[in-house]
Parts: sequence; structure tokens; C-alpha cells
Amino acid sequence: MGIFEKKTVVITGGASGIGRAVGEELARRGAQVILADMNSVLVRETADSITAAGHRAKAVTLDVTDPDAVKKVVDDTVSEFGRLDYIFNNAGVVVFGGASDFSYEDWRRVIDTDLYGVVNGVFAAFPVMAKQGFGHIISTASIAGLVPIPGAISYVASKFGVVGLSNALRVEGEELGVKVSVVCPGLIDTPMKNSKMINIDNEALLETAPKLMPAEECARVILDGVERNKPIIVVTAMAKIFWALQRICPRFLLWLLSRGHRQALGKIRIQAN
Ligand SMILES: NC(=O)c1ccc[n+]([C@@H]2O[C@H](COP(=O)([O-])OP(=O)(O)OC[C@H]3O[C@@H](n4cnc5c(N)ncnc54)[C@H](O)[C@@H]3O)[C@@H](O)[C@H]2O)c1
Repeated sequence: MGIFEKKTVVITGGASGIGRAVGEELARRGAQVILADMNSVLVRETADSITAAGHRAKAVTLDVTDPDAVKKVVDDTVSEFGRLDYIFNNAGVVVFGGASDFSYEDWRRVIDTDLYGVVNGVFAAFPVMAKQGFGHIISTASIAGLVPIPGAISYVASKFGVVGLSNALRVEGEELGVKVSVVCPGLIDTPMKNSKMINIDNEALLETAPKLMPAEECARVILDGVERNKPIIVVTAMAKIFWALQRICPRFLLWLLSRGHRQALGKIRIQAN
């Protein structure tokens, strides 16, 4: 019997991309999945397709920036299924552009979703899991949470926060029986590639990107890392190289990032007329 069999799992951002692929894979492995997403139509469709395949899934409409709503999803899950084994704090958004082009709203929306969305998940689930004496919190950061990737400043701020929060929580959770992991993917093929761009040509940006990893493959790597209780689950070869450089020679990596950024800007920046 696999470790996810008969387990209860909440996944935020479960209607699309990585969250959806993790939900589908977990349901195939016998878990009861609760997909929570602000896209009420897509989350319902996703849960329906999982149940139509003979597995167990439930859809909930949720905005992760609302702490009371996140707490309600966690509390309702425990009331209905008697336990919460895993929560994947995965919902996220990104805005690409130069730092001086960002509106305050571009800062706010990303930090509210990507950092506070995780804070709200932890705030709701950690005390419940500590009381149970078991549970695993998995939050999706990014390679941009380990390495200062330029061109998405509010995203980097949020994701570094998620990595720090998760590493500290892992230490606190140990004596309470609560496991904590953080996921740091490189480029994955999801609808996120259609994110907000400020003065950036999306098509040209995608042309500069290496081959993207399919979300289904990413989900399998994530679940393998969760099974092994890895503290940091880095996904894609490129992300692993970046993270190794960050630890071994951070100044060289900064030079590399700066050079790459200058070259990319020449190709992807939309010039004002
Ligand atoms: N795609 C990549 O290359 C990549 C790389 C590194 C990290 N990530 C991270 O992976 C996570 C999932 O992203 P994805 O690529 O699958 O993108 P995606 O756009 O396919 O999925 C994100 C989901 O989150 C939902 N969402 C957004 N804001 C929400 C909110 N306030 N409340 C509830 N749901 C909300 C969206 O409706 C969507 O279904 C994000 O945290 C993202 O930062 C993605």
C-alpha cells in the first residue's frame, strides 16, 4: 500500500497546472483530495474528471488571500474526513517586468497570494496537525525562492519568504510530529506562462526559455520528495544547477544572472514608441 492511500489532502491552486497534476496523481494513488481554487468553474471540472475516473475528489472555491476562508476549508475537511494528512499550499501568481515598472498593486497581488496565501495555509493547518501529532505541509515556492532571479521582483520576495518560513517551520514541527517541505521548481509547462507581463513580449520570453517540464512529471518528482520527506524539493535540472551555483559560488551566479538578464532584455522588452 502506498503512503498516500486513504490519506486526506488539501491542495490550493488545485484547478490548474502543478496543483491539478499533483491532485490527479494523489487521487490515482488512493488519496481523498480536496481541490481548493479561486477559479470555481475549473476546480469543479477538475474534481469531476477525477471522480469520473473512479477516484475521490472534492472541489472547493477558495481565495487563499482570505485567512478565514482558508481556515474554514481546513476545519471543514477535518470535520468531514476526521483528519488532515497533507496540505499543499500551491496557489500562486506572477508578474514579470522591470522593478521600476511595477505598480504597488503588482507588488501587493503577488505577495498577498504567494506569501500570505502560504501563511494562511500554515496558520490554519499547523495547529490542527500539531494537535493530531501528524501531518505534512508542502508549500510551493520556486527556484526564484532560492536564487535571486531578476525580472519578477515581487515573486522573488514572496518565494524567498516561503522558503525561509518552511525551513524554520520544519524545525518547529519536528518535535510535534508535523513534517514540512518546500517545493522549488524551475520552468514547468502550465498556464502560468500566460501571466501578467509589464512591457515584456510574452512570445519572445517563451522563445528564450529552455524546454519546459510537463506538469505531470513535476507532480511525480514532488510526490517522490514528499514520500522521502525531503526539506527542499528542487524540480528540473536547470533549477538544480542554479541552486548548486548559489551555494558554491554565489558571486559567479550573480554575474551570470546579470549577463543573462541584460541579453534577455534586448530580446523581450517592448520599446515605448
Ligand atoms: N509554472 C512554473 O514554471 C512554476 C515554476 C516555479 C514555481 N511555480 C509555482 O507553482 C505554483 C502553481 O503554479 P502553476 O504553474 O501550476 O500555475 P497555474 O496558473 O497553472 O495554477 C495556479 C492556480 O492557482 C490559482 N490561484 C491563483 N490565485 C489564487 C488565489 N488567490 N486563491 C486560490 N487560488 C488561486 C489559479 O486559479 C490557478 O488554478 C505557484 O505557486 C507557482 O508560483 C510555477
